Amino acid sequence: MKIIVSTTKGSVIKIRNFEMPDIRRVMGIEEESFLDGESEMYIEIYREWPDGFLVAEKEDKVIGFVVVVLTPEGESRIFALAVDSRYRGKGVGRALLKVAFSMLRQIKIGYVRLEVRVSNQVAERLYRSMGFMEIGFIPFYYQNGEGAIVMRKVL
Ligand SMILES: CC(C)(COP(=O)(O)OP(=O)(O)OC[C@H]1O[C@@H](n2cnc3c(N)ncnc32)[C@H](O)[C@@H]1OP(=O)(O)O)[C@@H](O)C(=O)NCCC(=O)NCCS
Repeated sequence: MKIIVSTTKGSVIKIRNFEMPDIRRVMGIEEESFLDGESEMYIEIYREWPDGFLVAEKEDKVIGFVVVVLTPEGESRIFALAVDSRYRGKGVGRALLKVAFSMLRQIKIGYVRLEVRVSNQVAERLYRSMGFMEIGFIPFYYQNGEGAIVMRKVL
């Protein structure tokens, strides 16, 4: 998959499937975003289901990514979403989610869920604006002891 998207903020980006050489850029963005992940985990998830790992590119440079996994219940879950801090607020995160959701609809997945840090109001606002509803709370979910809001959306 490889598509050119004009974001809601007027930025033109390319969204395509992750490829192994992208891992360094992905981990760079993930580390500056404090997502707590490790490259082995991302590679394992990619091998499990490559279609769920998308990157956004601007001028041949990876500037963001989204990782979606399928759950045993036949639903989906956003494992990670991050945009290079220099490219935030330009509609890249929203565009990545939209492309991931249309891909999930094509394979007849009905729901997507996610966990978001209580303190992460930017992400929470983005998810709410895309139709996610809060369905639960998990205390001490993150390594630093912070709790997670659990959200779910009908695709
Ligand atoms: C969350 C994140 C992926 C959003 O990506 P982005 O490309 O900056 O987001 P977008 O430009 O698509 O904006 C989408 C919405 O997010 C919210 N948002 C974005 N930047 C914001 C800011 N500085 N302040 C408040 N809300 C903001 C707004 O609701 C915005 O909607 P709008 O289009 O109506 O303004 C990005 O901020 C990021 O990488 N954060 C660090 C990693 C992270 O928190 N990931 C989510 C883990 S659950």
